Amino acid sequence: MMNTKNNNQSAFGMIGLGTMGSNLLQNIADHGYYCSGYDLDSKKVDTINHLNNKNIHAYSDLKEFVKNLKSPKIVMLLVPAGKIVDSVIEELLQVLDKGDIIIDGGNSHFTDTERRFVDLEKKGYHFVGMGVSGGEEGARKGPSMMPGGDKEAYKYLKPILEKIAAHVNGEPTVAYMGERSAGHFVKMVHNGIEYALMQLISETYEVLKKGLQMKDEEIHAVFEKWNEGRLQSYLIEITRDIFAFKNKGEDHLFFNDIKDEAKAKGTGKWTSQAAMDLTVPVPIIDIAVSMRDLSKYKDLRIEASKLYPNKTEQNYSDKSDYVAKIEEAFYFSMVSAYSQGMHLLYNANIEFNYDLNLATIAKIWRGGCIIRSEFLEDIYAAYQKNSELKHLFLDDSIQKSLSKSLPGIRTFVSDAALNGISTPAYSVALSYFDNFRNEEMPANLIQAQRDFFGSHTYELKGKEGTFHTEWEGGSN
Ligand code: 6PG
Repeated sequence: MMNTKNNNQSAFGMIGLGTMGSNLLQNIADHGYYCSGYDLDSKKVDTINHLNNKNIHAYSDLKEFVKNLKSPKIVMLLVPAGKIVDSVIEELLQVLDKGDIIIDGGNSHFTDTERRFVDLEKKGYHFVGMGVSGGEEGARKGPSMMPGGDKEAYKYLKPILEKIAAHVNGEPTVAYMGERSAGHFVKMVHNGIEYALMQLISETYEVLKKGLQMKDEEIHAVFEKWNEGRLQSYLIEITRDIFAFKNKGEDHLFFNDIKDEAKAKGTGKWTSQAAMDLTVPVPIIDIAVSMRDLSKYKDLRIEASKLYPNKTEQNYSDKSDYVAKIEEAFYFSMVSAYSQGMHLLYNANIEFNYDLNLATIAKIWRGGCIIRSEFLEDIYAAYQKNSELKHLFLDDSIQKSLSKSLPGIRTFVSDAALNGISTPAYSVALSYFDNFRNEEMPANLIQAQRDFFGSHTYELKGKEGTFHTEWEGGSN
């Protein structure tokens, strides 16, 4: 094999050599590919070159970097989403040739990806918007990747991406997602589900701690046990580990030193915004975003806690029996979180003509990504059985397990309410369900009210057309 530095043999170029970029390059190199990196920051370039990996060479000169790539040149961007992506693409167009491939691997908003795809296609370049999940470790050892956009370009990427992805049952956790911005849309929904699951886990912790009065070690044991059953997932697994992590020389769990104010880069919010635009309800994701926002108002929360002190109304007796109920409640809400995300994808697919395959999405989320879980096997099976499935609640095997979990969630939500413990994601999971299976929603009254105050018209049962009534003045 020849050295990348002197020969135009590099199979893959990476722009942005932060931890993610560097780890992904090392992953590619591990699979026998020569690859190159570029960064404006010479320190990052030096760090890569000091790895002394014969398959990787990093450059601080863009022209040199591009010159050493094989044709068609494959250049992936791992730079912060937003304007930087546009300016890097602009620079790249000065040095790339028509027919070359640009991949945006950041968490770009799907509307930006849509615009970039159209623009680059017109100019004769291949553009792939690709969601990458799995954090720093995933990038190094095997992420889940969601490429979308140029199908032609994907043929060149496929062999490399399939090697560097995580593998589940021998299958890589990467696949072509669909047209134009499909990859980034799917990744955005992945993150929305991520927010929902994280919120559910934090509410679980709240009830275990403040309701069942469990100590951290006991809570650790709960997550440890859950991670061995049907709730097995990456997020439960890391929560188990957080509940065991102590800094050297300290005897308390470190996470107790962390402020109770959550940050967010925005992908959860984007999911809610996109869902509202498409009129698809994803209330667990919405509430997860809102609760992160509420957590920031620490001063107000402290003030209000003095005005409205909490009184525990009811005891949580028989801890182990109760934890079994919480397990059911979590299962129920987790199913709902994934189902809402998949419902959004189902509808986005119709609206945006993405040509998504929901079974494939579930399949590539089973490994490598942050929301990987045992339950994704069931989702995968449901869409394999019926690729036209409109909502996961309608799958017969999910229907059975969801129905079995109902007593657990009802007890959990009502006890939490009686005890003044906030469990909005669980509550909304239950309410969403109760309306989802509600043949007669009270929305007729909303229609009447709209027509009453604004002549917005309504539709009638069993009669075509839209109607308006003069409501003032009483009955006719
Ligand atoms: C992933 C993650 C990642 C995301 C972080 C932070 O799939 O690897 O989704 O892409 O950036 O989870 O997200 P927030 O800052 O919005 O919590």
